[in-house]
Amino acid sequence: MQHYDVIVIGAGAAGLMCAITAGQRGRRVLVIDHANRVGKKILMSGGGRCNFTNTGTTPANYLSANRHFCKSALARYTPWHFIEMVERHRIAYHEKELGQLFCDESSKLIVKMLLEECASAGVRIETSCSIERVLHGEGAAEAPFRLHTTHGAFVATSLVVASGGLSIPSMGASGFGYELARQFGHDVLPTRAGLVPLTLSGKHQERLADLSGVALPVTATCNDQSFSNFMLVTHRGISGPAILQISSYWQPGDELHLDLLPGQDALDTLQRWQRERPAAELKTVLGDALPKRFAQRLCEHWLVNRPMKQYNLPELRAMADVLQHWPLVASGTEGYRTAEVTLGGVDTDGLSSTTMQSRHVPGLYFIGEVVDVTGWLGGYNFQWAWASGYAAGEVA
Ligand code: FDA
Repeated sequence: MQHYDVIVIGAGAAGLMCAITAGQRGRRVLVIDHANRVGKKILMSGGGRCNFTNTGTTPANYLSANRHFCKSALARYTPWHFIEMVERHRIAYHEKELGQLFCDESSKLIVKMLLEECASAGVRIETSCSIERVLHGEGAAEAPFRLHTTHGAFVATSLVVASGGLSIPSMGASGFGYELARQFGHDVLPTRAGLVPLTLSGKHQERLADLSGVALPVTATCNDQSFSNFMLVTHRGISGPAILQISSYWQPGDELHLDLLPGQDALDTLQRWQRERPAAELKTVLGDALPKRFAQRLCEHWLVNRPMKQYNLPELRAMADVLQHWPLVASGTEGYRTAEVTLGGVDTDGLSSTTMQSRHVPGLYFIGEVVDVTGWLGGYNFQWAWASGYAAGEVA
């Protein structure tokens, strides 16, 4: 039976950061992962360049049943702390947009950096190691957690659960953390796919499917939340950053509206077009403002196409309403297969917001995506993983 001060389950972003922080404090740390290599999601993130943080991170960029829970950890481990580590390892990076920082070369460098930090903090990592049972309270008081694994039995003083969410099962995602949380008396809030393409059905799907690949800037609004960015039409529905962002706020049956002329007053714009190009047809002028095929499709099914001079004011108002509040009825999402994150998870009511420690079982911690804290698209999810991992690593 091998004894560790801290056992971390999951060698992803949160688990590795926790292991580094605890190891640097002189704790004997073991990280266990059932996958054959560490940090698979880091490797695939940001299109292979890892959007590792966002310099504009604030608690407002996160969804959680308790909007305040993430504040303490985010305040104590900021994007600048992670940037310091990235710069110390001489990893070149750039800001793409809106504070999103990406590696210039490859996300492999982030995993390499974390592994180097683990090595210098004396952290042991066991990959391809499956956990068969987790027991608590049966052995010595100073090492109350006992794990039976395919690589033998281990005991630990602290157990940190960093096993992530359900998205991308092919990358090692499992519901293990939620099961463990329930085993230890924690509530798990309902989970669903977030940052995920939406599917359409019926008329919307029929009318848009052959426009697959067309992209345009929109403002997507649902449940009082709006995101302005690109939308991409797909074979089965809609995707692109604006849609991925709003998908985290959408639930079946919810209304979703798109502003197809973001940043403009649609009525003003239509009246200007009427003044400037009275003889031109709507589909022609609209085709100069939007992708042509998309504009044409709108005019076939949602608007009436005529020369601009033939519209009266009530008709212009009705058109402006369609363009500014285009209603989309999503039938569902593409699910965990393609989702970037899992919403919901271990209820924060059962955790300390400063340490991530369980309120029910001393020495037990939950960090990263397994917890009911989910960030927007744009580096916020890794920042939560680093910050919550650091918070637990400081005390575990
Ligand atoms: P993570 O999922 O990273 O790690 C969990 C680990 O636990 C895995 O290694 C898994 O194998 C292991 N595990 C699971 N069950 C286990 C078990 N039973 N036993 C042992 N080990 C187990 N975010 C961001 O900020 N910027 C970005 O660019 C991207 N890009 C991106 C792209 C794609 C395609 C996806 C799917 C996701 C992103 N994300 C992202 C989200 C980000 O990857 C995610 O939020 C973090 O990886 C979460 O970190 P965790 O450490 O909590 O879980």
